[in-house]
Amino acid sequence: MNTNLEIELFTQTGKPLKLKNPLLLASGTCGYVCELESFTDLSIPGGFIAKGTTLHPREGNPQPRIAETENGMLNAIGLENIGVEALVKEKAPVWENLGITVFANIAGSTIDEYSAVAESLEGVKGIAGVELNISCPNVKAGGVEFGLNPKMAAEITAAVRKATTLPLIVKLSPGSGRTTEIAQAVASAGADAITLINTFRGMAIDTSRRKPLLGNVTGGLSGPVLKPVALAMVYEAAGIVDIPVIACGGISSAEDAIEFIMAGASAFQVGTAFMVDPGLPSKILSSLEKFLSEQGIKDVAEIKGCARNG
Ligand SMILES: Cc1cc2nc3c(=O)[nH]c(=O)nc-3n(C[C@H](O)[C@H](O)[C@H](O)COP(=O)(O)O)c2cc1C
Repeated sequence: MNTNLEIELFTQTGKPLKLKNPLLLASGTCGYVCELESFTDLSIPGGFIAKGTTLHPREGNPQPRIAETENGMLNAIGLENIGVEALVKEKAPVWENLGITVFANIAGSTIDEYSAVAESLEGVKGIAGVELNISCPNVKAGGVEFGLNPKMAAEITAAVRKATTLPLIVKLSPGSGRTTEIAQAVASAGADAITLINTFRGMAIDTSRRKPLLGNVTGGLSGPVLKPVALAMVYEAAGIVDIPVIACGGISSAEDAIEFIMAGASAFQVGTAFMVDPGLPSKILSSLEKFLSEQGIKDVAEIKGCARNG
């Protein structure tokens, strides 16, 4: 039986975007995509979210920036990136040539900075849309501060909305305690989709050195440990907003992805698990196809939100 994994996002905007499947690689875990070519087949994922980009290049946080935890990891990269000018000049043309769907993930310390980054991406070939990171726990200024209250989240979304005609995805934090309110606020302010969730703030201590393991002291927790938290947030938000919800957090198997789709997600991102196994996207997609086919389901959209009914 032929199963259709193709999905269409942003249908509500009148400018729908087709993805060959609902699997996207999460920001910060697939770099600028080009560097993956030698060890993963770039034609497999439905899309990629590039590393968080700011107006000017950033060096990021002091080392160490990564620590393993039980069932997950902590990172405090601190948005090291090449800056938007280099992204536009050096990376976007490569994405266009490869014919892959890449979203830029943007960050900043002020609303003006976010807007300026979005403006620089307007009309750039090779960029399919923008994911607005208002949820990074690893930078001193900006980042998650914008994503912790509905008023600020709406303000920054509206400003970036004005700055770009590209599809606008807003990526939310699990740490606000007000996820559904914030999801509603950014949807009303012009977001075309939301991603749930970014990492959760955490830390680890090196007991022999009697010091925090990360140079930044705290970092963002990701990986399997995050999945139940993300799932609950996706379930709640999908019941409230009319725009697509893109799931992210601890997805490392087709079963995980299916849970998120059944909770109401339109698409899903794989992050930490991809860094462990670069061959994972094809394994997840073939298991997803097998599951749907065994269940007699012709289109992945048929199971979207099915765990919500009844
Ligand atoms: C090393 C690393 C770097 C990350 N950098 C970014 C980033 O630049 N922008 C962003 O929005 N999220 C970033 N994230 C968060 C991921 O995109 C994702 O939201 C999070 O890791 C949860 O998904 P996972 O459990 O599948 O990894 C990063 C995560 C990791 C592990």
